[in-house]
Amino acid sequence: GSRLVGTREELASLLATARAAGGPVVLVPTMGALHEGHASLMRLARERAGHGVVVASVFVNPLQFGPGEDLDRYPRSLDADRDLCAREGVDIVFAPGVDEVYPGGEPQVTVRPGPLGKVLEGKIRPGHFRGVLTVVAKLFGLVRPDVAVFGEKDYQQLVLIRRMVLDLNMGVEVVGAPTVREADGLALSSRNRYLDAEQRLAATALGRALHAAERNAAYGVQVALDEARTELREHLVDLDYLVVTDPGLGELPPVVPPGTEARMLVAARVGTTRLIDNVPLVLG
Ligand code: PAJ
Repeated sequence: GSRLVGTREELASLLATARAAGGPVVLVPTMGALHEGHASLMRLARERAGHGVVVASVFVNPLQFGPGEDLDRYPRSLDADRDLCAREGVDIVFAPGVDEVYPGGEPQVTVRPGPLGKVLEGKIRPGHFRGVLTVVAKLFGLVRPDVAVFGEKDYQQLVLIRRMVLDLNMGVEVVGAPTVREADGLALSSRNRYLDAEQRLAATALGRALHAAERNAAYGVQVALDEARTELREHLVDLDYLVVTDPGLGELPPVVPPGTEARMLVAARVGTTRLIDNVPLVLG
């Protein structure tokens, strides 16, 4: 089974023992309510760690939720989370309380995401990525992992974490893991459980749209966007954005050579639930 740890002290002492035995320390940060998407990250972490140690953190980080967001109703299921971690070979489940992570209340020193934190999700959720990067930096400080695994599902988050590690010389190898989807293409998310049957059906529009774009990427950005928009229009979703960027979330040049890699990102509201998704595109 996995060892459940709630304090920094206990975490530090377990990690000291593990480090002395050799092998890498691999971290998978999560907010719990774990599903098969998270499980795939843990599987990847287990492979990367070999005989080293896999740590999964379960912490709903208040600092990354804005006023009026779902902090209070965010799903919590530590017993089930622990079972999933045990099944995936996680050695340590670090599930601290808020006071353990923020002993002085709101931190005075935080990580500023820079320009990439102000676009797309960052534009709609001001302060969100400052909260994400700050807690990830703190988790890196507490665990001091050799490798950390994040999902491509939250693509802007992944790009920003890579950037933070680079700009602040954190010396952590960041591994990105592909998005796990339901059979109908809906990306797994802890927030999917907020959807009723009708909304669940509407939510398939995101996956459909991205899939249509993938199929048409050889015809260029405009065709890919048009095909995606057609799928989104057919469903009851309120679009926040649909964009094609370069893989680093920068602007694509107006003319690109065939084979150029790009990213399509979509965000939409279904009822009061916000959903995000993205796919890589190879442009023609
Ligand atoms: P959370 O939403 O719990 O996600 C934890 C990790 O699981 C993230 O790296 C996310 O990209 C990945 N993930 C979620 N759904 C996935 C799916 N369908 N397929 C593959 N990976 C998936 O992201 C966060 O928590 C937080 O912002 C965190 C990084 C823990 C900081 O608080």
